[in-house]
Parts: sequence; structure tokens; C-alpha cells
Amino acid sequence: MDEALRIQQLRKQLETYAREYYIQDAPTVTDQEYDRLMHELEDLEAGHPELADPNSPTQRVIGAILPGFEKYTHARRMLSLGDIFSREELEEFVARVRKEFPGASFVAECKYDGLAMALHYEDGRFVRAVTRGDGLTGEVVTANVRTIRSVPMYIDAPGHVEVRGEVYMPKVSFERLNEVQTTLHLPLFANPRNAAAGSIRNLDTSVAASRNLEIFLYWYQNALEHGINTQARALEAMHAMGFPVNMDFAVCDTVDELWAFIEKTREKRSSLPYEIDGVVIKVNSLEQEEALGLNAKTPRYAIAYKYPAQEVQTRLDDIFLTIGRTGVATPNAVLTPVRVAGTLVSAASLHNEDLIRDRDLRIGDTVIIRKAGDIIPEVIASVKEQRDGTQVPYVFPDTCPVCGSELIRLPEEADHFCTNPDCPAQVLGSLIHFVSREAMNIDGLGEKKVCQLHEAHLLDTIQDIYHLAEKREEILALHGWSDKGFDKLLA
Ligand code: IVH
Repeated sequence: MDEALRIQQLRKQLETYAREYYIQDAPTVTDQEYDRLMHELEDLEAGHPELADPNSPTQRVIGAILPGFEKYTHARRMLSLGDIFSREELEEFVARVRKEFPGASFVAECKYDGLAMALHYEDGRFVRAVTRGDGLTGEVVTANVRTIRSVPMYIDAPGHVEVRGEVYMPKVSFERLNEVQTTLHLPLFANPRNAAAGSIRNLDTSVAASRNLEIFLYWYQNALEHGINTQARALEAMHAMGFPVNMDFAVCDTVDELWAFIEKTREKRSSLPYEIDGVVIKVNSLEQEEALGLNAKTPRYAIAYKYPAQEVQTRLDDIFLTIGRTGVATPNAVLTPVRVAGTLVSAASLHNEDLIRDRDLRIGDTVIIRKAGDIIPEVIASVKEQRDGTQVPYVFPDTCPVCGSELIRLPEEADHFCTNPDCPAQVLGSLIHFVSREAMNIDGLGEKKVCQLHEAHLLDTIQDIYHLAEKREEILALHGWSDKGFDKLLA
């Protein structure tokens, strides 16, 4: 057989096998057979550099350092959705749509917590992946998206196909990633969404390749051009083309049916292998969708029902104070790390003495933590029934943990203050504030650099900032400084 033809054939075949393996969980060939075909393809490609194709199965997980991300303007804006939080608001949404289309039906789907991505195909070939960006223009991240095994490189569809979906990191991959970060003494990722976004926006493609990312497609951008006229059929068509689509969606004719899907999904939520933060409800007819159009900036044809803040229990292991730049002493909870709303929570601010007293928080207590999406975690209560007598009430210290000076609480005030204006914590806090964007906005001197110079006793006071040139030698000897960076800072 013609070698060029054999290359094409092997690429398609290996793509199908990979799809069966990664998406359908139903391999039809043994690993050995797969490897044998892969080697055959590698050998043939080595002899035909003119037929190289970045979409080839041989190229998908190879690392490369990209020079940067190109920008791409979306054919149709990538929108965000309006949020609702109650059944009443769902009724209002359905009523608004039915006012224009009395017979409208709806599709309910999970709302995945990741980052939105558009995939472009030309005559069956994967050509481009673009992030949402500001909605109008995104970044071209094709090479990183190629490392997602379940994204097909070849599909059976003519012409131009654009599908959109959510790139996400499965819960187990996120946990494993943070275990590795811990062993390597690297900072932990706050949640799977941040970890996925960081991987996709990394210029080193081997990073995305190592992160076990996944994707769910939920939007067939140019479905009407391909003769598809409902959202349900768009999901089925994408599934049939070999895209990962969550087929656990529901076509609903009534609010009751939509609500039943929301409730059923709420119960399943914690056992799903990926994070969801709600349910998306879309008008099923794509013609009605087009006619409904947009509000100011969100669609009128779809809405996101968001689950309320998640609450979990953990143990209050300790309370420690931090001293801010104005001398305020803030108590903080040390918690046994626990997952809440997709995030690992191990600390939370307790704000002041009154909050600890009002909520009756004792060290050793089982406490209830609440967190919604990006919102800061909060300790809302202690579970009194779980007390066994070993819990200790917290006594607010009367001395500063940093400098040992007296801490005072003025009448009518909730906060305690450190009374020493030379307290190192206050000095460092004011140095950080002074260089920050809100204040002098000094380029090249962020929080990390300030802490580093302060620790090395090269930056004790604000005045010292203006004499850094005299300490050039000492500073350049520190980690992370170069002649160029130092000159930029001085400039
Ligand atoms: S449809 C105009 N469906 O949620 C409709 N979005 O706030 C476009 N998302 O930017 C989106 N799961 O990143 C749709 N099943 C789903 C989704 C979903 C997650 C994300 C998407 C979008 C954001 C909207």
C-alpha cells in the first residue's frame, strides 16, 4: 500500500482506538496491538517528514515550549450566563421565554466548573482551540488542548465545525496534583478550576500533558448550518462525532421537570468525578434561541441555576494571630484541611474576639465551614453535641505574638491593636502596602521581593527603598535577581 495512504489510515484507526479507550471506556484492541500500530505509524512518519501533522496520535503528548499565545476573535461572542438561586427565579425565567414562545421546551445540563473552550475543525481536522478570553477575543491554546486525550483530532464532518465546552480537571487528578505539589514543597492549587486554567495557559505543553485534563462539550456553535435545530440534537450530534458529551441531560416541558433535574443532580453532585456548581437551563429550539437573543450581556435563552454555598464539618485545631500594617491583630482558624465547594480549606479568618465569642468557638471543636465558589471560607458555628470536654475556650492574648508589646482593645472597638509602631509585622505590612498598586505602584518590587529583602535586612524602612542602589552587590547575590531586573527596579 501507498505509504502516505497507510499513514492516514493509521492516524484514523489509532484515533478511533483512543476514543474507545478514553471516552467510551470500551477498548476493542489490546494495548500491545495499539502500541504496535503506533510504532508502525512512528516509523512511517520518520520516513516522510513532508507528511508531518501536529494532530497525529504520535504528536499528542510531546512537550514543547511555545513562544506565546496568539489572539483570536470569536465568530460569535462567548457569553457568560445570568445566575439564579431559587425555584421562583426559575419560574420567572420560564415565564419570560414562554411569553414569546408559549410552547418552548428546555434542556437541563450540569454546569461544569472549569474553563470555557472553543474547538474548531475544518473538513474533519482539528485546527484550533481558543479560550473564552474577554468573550470577544480569546487565546489560541491549540497545542495544550491537543494533550487532552479525549479531544478528537479528526471527526467525520465536512466543512467548518465549531463546538464549545468546558475544560476541567477531574477531582482525583486535582487531589493527586496537590499531593505532588506537597511533596515538592510547591504551593497548592486552590481548586480544580484554577489548576485547569493554569495548565491550559502554560507555555510549556508538557505541563498540560501531565495534568490529566478533560473536556465536556455542551454547545454546537454552528449547528443550524449542519441541519441541527435543537440543543438536545446538538448534544447527540456532538456525541456521535466522537466528542465527550455528558449524555445525562434532560429535555423538560415544565418547571417541575426542570426542578426535578436540579434536585436529582444536587443529590449526585458529591459523588460525580468532576466539580459542578449548578445546572444550566437552555431553550431547546435553536431557532427560538436565536430569536430570543441577549440582554445587556447575558443570553435570554439560557440561565444558570447555582447551588447554594456548601457547608462541611471539620476540626478547629488552633487559633493564631496575624498583625496587619495598622497594628490590627486578627485571629485566624487553623482547620483540619477539608474540601468545600471544590477547594481545600485549611484556614479561615475569624476577624475578631467578638466573633469567636458569639459563635462559641473552642479549640478542638468540630466546626461548620461554609464556602461558595470563589467566596472566602467562613467558620459559621461550632457543633456543641460533638464536645467531649477536651475543648478549650480561646483567651485573646494580651501581648503581640510578633514583638511582645501590649495588645489593647479600646472601648467601642471590635479590634485589638499592637501598641508598638516599630512592630516588625507592622513595618513589613506597611512596606508591602507602600510598594503596592494601591499606593506607590513600584514595578519590580512585589510582596515576595519585599519579604526577601526585609529578611536579608536590606530593606528595613520605607526610606531604604530609595537607597537600594547602594546595596546592589548584596541584592544581586540573592536568589531571583539579575542585573537587568535590578536596573528596571531602579528606573
Ligand atoms: S452554555 C450562552 N452549558 O458557564 C451559553 N455553559 O456562566 C454559553 N458552563 O462560560 C454557555 N457548564 O464556561 C453552558 N453545560 C454548560 C456549561 C456552561 C459550564 C460555563 C461556561 C460559561 C459559563 C457561563
